[in-house]
Amino acid sequence: MTTIPDLDLPEGVQPTPLALLMLGRGKDPHSERGVECPGDLPPASDPDLVERARAAKEKLGGNLFVLGHHYQRDEVIQFADVTGDSFKLAREAAARPEAPYIVFCGVHFMAESADILTAAHQQVILPDLAAGCSMADMAAIEQVEEAWEVLQDAGVADVTVPVSYMNSSADIKGFTGRHGGTICTSSNAKRALEWAFAKGEKVLFLPDQHLGRNTAVLQLGMSLDDCVVYDPHKPAGGLTADQLRAARMILWRGHCSVHGRFTLECVKDVRERIPDVTVLVHPECRHEVVTNADLVGSTEYIIKTVDAAPAGSAWAVGTELNLVKRLAKRHPDKTIVFLDRTVCFCSTMNRIDLPHLVWALESLVDGRVVNRIQVDEDTAHWARVALDQMLALPGA
Ligand code: 13P
Ligand code: SF4
Repeated sequence: MTTIPDLDLPEGVQPTPLALLMLGRGKDPHSERGVECPGDLPPASDPDLVERARAAKEKLGGNLFVLGHHYQRDEVIQFADVTGDSFKLAREAAARPEAPYIVFCGVHFMAESADILTAAHQQVILPDLAAGCSMADMAAIEQVEEAWEVLQDAGVADVTVPVSYMNSSADIKGFTGRHGGTICTSSNAKRALEWAFAKGEKVLFLPDQHLGRNTAVLQLGMSLDDCVVYDPHKPAGGLTADQLRAARMILWRGHCSVHGRFTLECVKDVRERIPDVTVLVHPECRHEVVTNADLVGSTEYIIKTVDAAPAGSAWAVGTELNLVKRLAKRHPDKTIVFLDRTVCFCSTMNRIDLPHLVWALESLVDGRVVNRIQVDEDTAHWARVALDQMLALPGA
């Protein structure tokens, strides 16, 4: 474990509360430790842009509905009419049928889902088209169609139900609907798997292997041996027909580049640094991280848990950094640190910044719809079937 010597900082300069080590994983703690900027500095956001966003939003009034995922930057999330995790935002997307414009401050797959779930006259806008998701990109439709053929050749496709994480493209959601499956999010993965296993013998879980494995093993009581990993970059997924026949969970080889960074070392390290800390992580984290954490749950669960925690309690949170920083700011009476020592924003979520939001809103004021996200009708139909199945899960 790396120990960090006290820093010899100039007067008035404070180390960052999150003690982030950047660049070298603790090789040079003095140069790598972040510090808070002292004194009166201008706010991170250009005040003119804040004013322009406010003015454009006011002009658009009831014609505009802004949705914001919890991992968005503060400068953006302040303009969201509704904030939430993927599940809440999917449910809320259709909440304002009278608004012709829905600006989605999140990533591409979320904006696609909003387009699928809203009425035909509503247009969904993603302020920066580069706001994708590396996990969603790990399952391309051609690869998934090929995998289904591998399952057919092994004689198991008929007894396999696809369960696809919300964090997937509309194409994958369409595939899921076409093959009688359901979408799930981190809030309802257990219920989705229970539903799928009541319907079939096996599940093809796309694209996050960690959420699939963690839910199957920790919530449904399966063993790790019940799970196999299908690698789309290997012939036949790198699995034999016998392995496919023996498996109950066929996990796609995908992961989140943010949550996948947390390691067992991070958990051990934070427990040594903060003896009474409660480690709270998202189920997109690796299995060994989740099994060594104290609590695991979706983004909404993480927020509710920290909000309800008593003053004086200490938390190490394994999820996206914008959210952890926001929680730390909201609860100065609790110790809330980021689980890793290295910076871990979701770089694609962060593509949505104030300049892009202002551009999207001011364009709407001028009558121009920019960066519209539109899913073709056939894909949208089958994706809606799978999304509606999720929304109909017991307790949803
Ligand atoms: P949830 O919003 O379902 O918690 O998923 C986390 C995530 O990675 C969103 O991109
Ligand atoms: Fe994708 Fe992970 Fe970023 Fe979510 S946090 S958008 S899953 S890369």
